[in-house]
Amino acid sequence: MSKQIYARIAGTGSYLPEKILTNDDLSKFVDTSDEWITSRSGIRQRHVAAEGETTSDLGYHAAVRAMEAAGVTAEELDLIIVGTTTPDLIFPSTACLIQHRLGADGCAAFDVNAACSGFIYAFTVADKFIRSGASKTVLVIGAETLTRMIDWSDRTTCVLFGDGAGAVVLKADEETGILSTHLHADGGKKELLWNPVGVSVGFKPEEHNVGVRIKMAGSEVFKYAVKAMDSVAEETLEANGIDCHDIDWLIPHQANLRIIESTAKRLDMPMDRVIVTVDKHGNTSSGSVPLALDEAVRSGRIQRGQLVLLEAFGGGFTWGSALLRY
Ligand code: UT7
Repeated sequence: MSKQIYARIAGTGSYLPEKILTNDDLSKFVDTSDEWITSRSGIRQRHVAAEGETTSDLGYHAAVRAMEAAGVTAEELDLIIVGTTTPDLIFPSTACLIQHRLGADGCAAFDVNAACSGFIYAFTVADKFIRSGASKTVLVIGAETLTRMIDWSDRTTCVLFGDGAGAVVLKADEETGILSTHLHADGGKKELLWNPVGVSVGFKPEEHNVGVRIKMAGSEVFKYAVKAMDSVAEETLEANGIDCHDIDWLIPHQANLRIIESTAKRLDMPMDRVIVTVDKHGNTSSGSVPLALDEAVRSGRIQRGQLVLLEAFGGGFTWGSALLRY
């Protein structure tokens, strides 16, 4: 009888642009304060891509670090998936741009757009490819330059987002790795969190009077996100027949510290077992979960054999989780 094949994390990497924008910096050009931003969101600073620095640049650097950590060369990759909602170009995909720069030409490469859940969606697809036997070594990246579509005069959104990328190399392994993944979407809520311009609607930013900009009904998104994160965590525990106390680490999407604390409380997890980077990175959308994962791995907090729950929520709405034995 053939053995069950799992997708196992062989290496992680991340990259943040050099420039840091603090809450005090923001309060110089928009009507806000460090006190408001910190108390409502937990964010203290965010990184901003330099002029000319693109999503594929960020994703490439994160990928190189993940491949080094995994000891994997470009020739070994048989699939590259990038979760992003801020691709360099309409096409080719960011995955194709990164593939070429890595020297991995020939393997399959594509993007997944699930807004802030982009990495969890991409990770899930990669898991299915590996479990089915179709792929052996997959590079999964979450990379974003969200500050490129921010209205810097809108204080309800411009204080929240940042740029960054994280990556993992997944390898087929007989040892346990990803145990389960769970994805959901609710397309009926699109106007609560969206960017209303695009290619086939005519690309007419002036009609919406917003430019190519993110629009968000923050408090409504907040309530939905809390419920969705709770329900997908519950679903994950049930699917694996485990108790919340079995989880060693929670890595939630980094949008708002209050959402993170609420999720942790429902799981009865003390905050010292929750990875928090939102204070330093802001909301980096698809970049947030792999950035936090890499930081936790490199700081030595997450150890081999531990049980880790990843969760994300974003525009669409989309949300999802992955439970893995690191
Ligand atoms: O990644 C995808 C998922 N995204 C999320 O999960 C984000 C979810 N939402 C949130 O994180 C929170 O709703 C926010 C941080 C965006 C906002 O916090 P809130 O506690 O929901 O505040 P609010 O939107 O209800 O606004 C409260 C007040 C308003 O003033 P009034 O109407 O009470 O006079 C806002 O105009 O705060 C005002 N406000 C600000 N004041 C200073 C909004 N933004 C700012 C600001 N600085 N930057």
